[in-house]
Amino acid sequence: MNAVHGQEAPHRPVLYQETIQYLTAKQAKRFLDCTAGAGGHSEGLLLQSSPDSELIALDLDSHAIQLSQERLKPFGNRAKVVQASYLDAPKVLQEVGWDGVDGIVMDLGVSSMQLDQADRGFSFRYDAPLDMRFDPSKGQSAADLVNTLNEAELANILWEYGEEKFSRRIARAILKARPLYTTFQLAEVVRKAVGKTREQQDPATRSFQALRIAVNDELESITQAVPSLIETLKTQGRIAIISFHSLEDRIIKNVFRQESTDCLCPPEKLICDCGHSATIKVLTKRPITATEDELQSNPRSRSAKLRVAEKL
Ligand SMILES: C[S@@+](CC[C@H](N)C(=O)[O-])C[C@H]1O[C@@H](n2cnc3c(N)ncnc32)[C@H](O)[C@@H]1O
Repeated sequence: MNAVHGQEAPHRPVLYQETIQYLTAKQAKRFLDCTAGAGGHSEGLLLQSSPDSELIALDLDSHAIQLSQERLKPFGNRAKVVQASYLDAPKVLQEVGWDGVDGIVMDLGVSSMQLDQADRGFSFRYDAPLDMRFDPSKGQSAADLVNTLNEAELANILWEYGEEKFSRRIARAILKARPLYTTFQLAEVVRKAVGKTREQQDPATRSFQALRIAVNDELESITQAVPSLIETLKTQGRIAIISFHSLEDRIIKNVFRQESTDCLCPPEKLICDCGHSATIKVLTKRPITATEDELQSNPRSRSAKLRVAEKL
C-alpha cells in the first residue's frame, strides 16, 4: 500500500516501477521530482537508490507540498520539498548549491487529490468556484477566462486542448450564458450546447480539460521547461517524463528528437552551419504505456505515456 502515515495515499503514481527503474539504474545520487503531488515517485526514488541519495521535490500546489513533506519526512535531510514551478528548477538547484542532477521525473497533469478537492474547481462532479489553478494564489482562474475571452479565443482553446468538435457551438453558448462562476454552471452550458450524444463520458469532460490546460499554460510550460531541465542533467543523468495528453507527448517527443540530433540544418543545406550537437540519447524508442495489470488497478494510467532520455 502507498501509505502516508498509515492512511492510504490519495494519489497512485502511474508507471511507477518503470520510472523508478530507469532513474535508479545508474548509481544516481541526486534527483529532482518536478511534480511532487503526493510524493509517490519521490518516495520510490529515495527508497530504491543508495542510502545517501538526495532529492528535491517541486510542486506549485501548497496542498501537494504538505502531502509530500509528510510522506518524505522519514528521509530527513535527504528530501527537500519546495513550492515552485518546474520552470524555476534551475534557480532552485542553484539556491541549494547543486551543480546538476542525476535523475529527473516529471509526471504531468492533474492529481487525484486535485480532482477530489471540491473547492479547486477541477471537476464537474462537485459544485465549486470555477478556479482550476495549480497555484490558486497566482494568475487567472477558469472563471476569468470564460468570462473575458472572446468567442474565437474560447473556441480555439476547446478545439486545440480539448479536441472538442463542438468547440464553436460551446463557445457561443458560453458567451450567451455568462457570467459563469461555478463548475455546475459551466458543465450545464456545455451539456446543453452539445445536446444528446452516444458517448459514455460526460460531454463537459473535454471542455474542463481544455480550460485547465489553458489556465495553467501547461503546454507552453512544458515546451520551455524540458530543454532547460535537460541542461541541469549531469553526464549519464536521465530524465523521465510521463504525459497524459497527445499534445504533451508530441512536445516531449519533438524536444527529445531535436536534442538527440547533431545537425538541425534543413535537408537542402549541403554543409552544416547550425553548430548543434546532440545532448541526449533517447532510451525509449516508443513511449512506454501501462501494463494490463496497471490498467486494471489504476484507470488513470490509461492514457499515460513515459519517455526517457539520457544525457550524453
Ligand atoms: C500527476 S500529479 C503528480 C503526482 C506525483 N507523481 C505522485 O506520485 O503523487 C501532477 C502534479 O504536478 C503539479 N504541477 C503542475 N504544473 C506544475 C509546474 N509548472 N510546476 C510544478 N508542479 C506542477 C500539480 O500541481 C500536481 O500536483
